[in-house]
Amino acid sequence: MRIAVLTSGGDAPGMNAAIRAVVRYCGYQDIEVFGINRGYRGLVEDDFIMLSKRSVSGIVQRGGTMLMTARCPEFTDYNVRKKAAENLSLRKIDGLVVIGGDGSFRGMNELYQDFGVKTVGIPGTIDNDLAYTDYTLGFDTAVNTVVENVNKLRDTMSSHERVVVVQVMGRRCGDIALYAGIASGAEIILIPEHKTDYDQVVSVLSRGKKAGKQSAIIMLAEGVGNVDDVINELKQRSPEMHFRSCVLGHIQRGGTPSQADRTLAARFGARAVELLNEGKGGRVVGIRDNKIIDMGVDEALSQPSNFDEKLFELARILSL
Ligand code: ADP
Ligand code: F6P
Repeated sequence: MRIAVLTSGGDAPGMNAAIRAVVRYCGYQDIEVFGINRGYRGLVEDDFIMLSKRSVSGIVQRGGTMLMTARCPEFTDYNVRKKAAENLSLRKIDGLVVIGGDGSFRGMNELYQDFGVKTVGIPGTIDNDLAYTDYTLGFDTAVNTVVENVNKLRDTMSSHERVVVVQVMGRRCGDIALYAGIASGAEIILIPEHKTDYDQVVSVLSRGKKAGKQSAIIMLAEGVGNVDDVINELKQRSPEMHFRSCVLGHIQRGGTPSQADRTLAARFGARAVELLNEGKGGRVVGIRDNKIIDMGVDEALSQPSNFDEKLFELARILSL
């Protein structure tokens, strides 16, 4: 048997650990494995490299992805995907592991539906925006990076009695803001899952100030809007407060993966190879209640939101 692996969409810490797990588990099961550079772009352009157990030495601790990643908008075109399927067939590749987010899973599913390419997806995105799985690869590391940086912000904001609005990533999902917010004791968490009430935000800030708080952290998920617009809304309502902003940006996507992400990568990688070895395709792996699961792509992508409302409420209670 012969399979290939690629990383697609935004990179995430733990992608390298997942590549390593796929390659080494293939070695364990006597499966030949190729890497594809730059996601679907490399698949279409036939940019394959042979991988051995030694090719993935020393990458478990590295952020980013050794196979590089790319966005390939042309992949939505049937004829472009046909070329990709032909490239796999010419190389006699029986299965494809795709490490990426929901967009990458859609592309992978179309390869399976239209051309019968056996595909298995590993959720790799810092956003944690795939409802079928409790966690995606890279989320834990990104949250830890945010917390580490917010600790520093807290020092300087407390010294100057300021309020900082920290904009974090997550696209349309508030999970990074929620988990980083609760772990860093943010006074306010603004997420796209809840409509923002600026009067309420200002009232919480004033209450905190009266109660003796020296600073406040507002954790803002990028899906809510721009940090400058948020600060303008707050300044209009509370001109006497001193606001500062911080956009953490791509810092959140880099860095050595946490233990949790490395372990998850190992478990996802092994299961993905097992599924291909069982002749399955059009599936994604995930984790629920600390058990590795797999599911059809359509079902996985149509799960209702798993946003943790209870945790959001707890963060609010504990911040007062
Ligand atoms: P992510 O996988 O992190 O969600 P994107 O949404 O940017 O990232 O998707 C990554 C790549 O997956 C895209 O650049 C494109 O090549 C492919 N893709 C996304 N959506 C589709 C789709 N509906 N059909 C085919 N390919 C898609
Ligand atoms: O999906 C991962 C992510 O980092 C999002 O959180 C963010 O909105 C987006 O990618 C940024 O994309 P780019 O790297 O293209 O600026």
